[in-house]
Amino acid sequence: MLKGRNLINPDDLTVSELHEILSLAQKIIESPFDFSDSCRGRILGTLFFEPSTRTRLSFEAAMLRLGGSTLGFSEALSSSAAKGESLIDTIRTVACYADILAMRHPKEGSAALASEYTTVPLINAGDGGHYHPTQTLTDLLTIVETKGDLENLTIGLCGDLKFGRTVHSLLKTMTRFKGNRFLLISPDELQIPNYVKRLAFDEKALSVDYVELERMEDVLPELDVLYMTRVQKERFFNEADYVRLKDSYILNAKKMRHAKEDMIVLHPLPRVNEISLEVDSDPRAVYFQQAKFGMFVRMALILKLLGVE
Ligand code: CP
Repeated sequence: MLKGRNLINPDDLTVSELHEILSLAQKIIESPFDFSDSCRGRILGTLFFEPSTRTRLSFEAAMLRLGGSTLGFSEALSSSAAKGESLIDTIRTVACYADILAMRHPKEGSAALASEYTTVPLINAGDGGHYHPTQTLTDLLTIVETKGDLENLTIGLCGDLKFGRTVHSLLKTMTRFKGNRFLLISPDELQIPNYVKRLAFDEKALSVDYVELERMEDVLPELDVLYMTRVQKERFFNEADYVRLKDSYILNAKKMRHAKEDMIVLHPLPRVNEISLEVDSDPRAVYFQQAKFGMFVRMALILKLLGVE
């Protein structure tokens, strides 16, 4: 039963609940107008203390397409956080005005803290370099819709695996499905943090096959899914390191010639340089479809957490 629950960490949902949400999202894709009145009278509050295009706007679009309304702020400076109000007081207040909340915050653990004080369901829309569980739902729906299955896939995760919260969430989740193999492609300095590896690999009942490597070209022909990520400028402590690492990987049409014909390229976006524009017209590039799936899966999540039949 998902009604009334928070979604803070990708592990908050069981595999069966993940399937439940994905299946509802697929029903919404098939007949979106059947759901256009489902949330009439309900309000989604969006509390974005950090910039966003897709997550905030797809949450808002999701609630509007369900017949509900939205309120919120898109930067900390336009809220009373700028006057020194604590996160806890902000959450307690906005929970008085909305039926469900989506929050993004630059500090790791902020969503877990907020969840202790909210009186309505709270969704983590990204907490620092930690987790981004609704991006994972988006990624899962994209994989299901394009590959037909979440099992027995060879998945390459490429780029900033250290600070990339979308990677941390996706890895923790995809290791729960059978037969997946992970190729973790990054410079040494941007490897997956040990705490994520421990949670994703060591504590799983299934034994998980993974390899860490630096050169994308070495494994490109093996991949079913290539998940590209941006080097997360905002999480670096010094500009020189960012400048040195930012263009570590650039996927272009020449490299795509070595990939399988049915490989898919995902990217949570925003993109900077890591995928050349020429790749966009390749039918294997599904990152803009992925952005659209994000809206449908958030519609499904809102319905489930509000307990709307
Ligand atoms: N994928 C994602 O989180 O994008 P935004 O930062 O634009 O929300």
